[in-house]
Amino acid sequence: MTAAISEDCRPQTAATDLTIRDAVEADLPAIIAIYNAAIATRIATAQLERVNIEEGHHWLSDHSTDGYPFWVAEIEGRVAGWLSFKRFLPRCAYRGTAEISVYVDEKLRRRGVARRLVREAIARAPSLGINALVGLIFGHNEPSLKLFEQLGFQRWGHLPGVAQLEAVERDLIVMGQHCPARRDAIVKETTYADTLQPHSYKDCLNLMRTLMDYRQQPIHSTLLKIRDKYSMLHLDVLILIYHFAKICSGSVLEIGAFVGGATIAAASGVRDSRGQKKLIAIEPGGSVKHKRLGTRNIFRDLERNLSRHRVSEMVTLVKGRSFERATIAAVHRALGSDKIGLLILDADAGKRRDIECYRDKFAEGCWMVIDDYCRADSNAKSAPSRADVDALVAAGALEPLGFYGWSTWVGRSRSSATTVKT
Ligand SMILES: C[S@@+](CC[C@H](N)C(=O)[O-])C[C@H]1O[C@@H](n2cnc3c(N)ncnc32)[C@H](O)[C@@H]1O
Repeated sequence: MTAAISEDCRPQTAATDLTIRDAVEADLPAIIAIYNAAIATRIATAQLERVNIEEGHHWLSDHSTDGYPFWVAEIEGRVAGWLSFKRFLPRCAYRGTAEISVYVDEKLRRRGVARRLVREAIARAPSLGINALVGLIFGHNEPSLKLFEQLGFQRWGHLPGVAQLEAVERDLIVMGQHCPARRDAIVKETTYADTLQPHSYKDCLNLMRTLMDYRQQPIHSTLLKIRDKYSMLHLDVLILIYHFAKICSGSVLEIGAFVGGATIAAASGVRDSRGQKKLIAIEPGGSVKHKRLGTRNIFRDLERNLSRHRVSEMVTLVKGRSFERATIAAVHRALGSDKIGLLILDADAGKRRDIECYRDKFAEGCWMVIDDYCRADSNAKSAPSRADVDALVAAGALEPLGFYGWSTWVGRSRSSATTVKT
């Protein structure tokens, strides 16, 4: 079967409530109907005869044997599209490469369903043991080729006239992408102005100017003292946290408050914004050996420092680990109907895990400050953190706006409405 996608590359109205989950037997009638409709177009698949439910049962069982997912995208309880992974070629040497196939219900096209599914495949590939993805797309399927290109795939192969469709010879294009994207591709994306989205390029320059402006303002020396007493972060990062807390639309969530350096910077931003923003900080507590900031009781010092700086009233402290059910529930309670407009992530290496835990509460374009992206000494915590962030960027879930201080990634979230249940 030719892996291809039958959807226009320009979403007209993005699906606002799209869920991606593992396919189950009950989805088969919808999956097969979508596929049969695609067969009839003679553009999306090399399969020429209609398939029946019986074959569909084999697809699902083959996937569970292979250990590769078969996902459906659901909008309002209805299967809008599906994506399957399969082995690219049976020989062992290709086991890190998977072929993806994507199909979307004709009536639900131009809503970004395929884009979301492919982005999710790119993001999750490393955790599935996949280091390269390929899509086999007919040369005349221009919308699909364009969409794959937009999502970072490159033309890795061109097989001229290998398919016979209605007595017409058709070319097959092999679209491929490494997962996570190879270092040169990442550097290109984040370094060269011409590969950045025009709006993110402008945002980068504005952030640099903002940082320079703050150097002349009283908040600069205030945050310098906070940094020296309570924070492991660079002063530039505390200033950005202050700034984002001030300008963001939505509430602020901090994961890994430690003794409150970044929390106080964010609280100062919230106070100066004069908005009704909530600030929620998660910290499990414990002790830390550190030349400047060592403590035998993190949580006690956190409470004390917030009180000293008269921001206790503004901060909802949640004692626990970010991914624990009770912590997530407490954050949801504290947020109520508010969305998160700024996420400060400086806990352990599970960046992707933490983002998934709270993604459903992100405002569109939620500002993100993620520490431990890369360190000169490349410690154990930064390597997986960086892989997580790179995968989310490659999948289009995050938009990078630069690196600040020693190793802090700054950017924004995209497509907050996609949820993943696999
Ligand atoms: C590097 S410190 C944070 C430094 C702080 N941002 C600052 O301004 O100095 C990391 C903190 O994350 C906390 N932490 C580790 N894993 C966590 C998790 N899963 N959820 C919440 N906090 C966590 C640790 O207890 C520690 O206090």
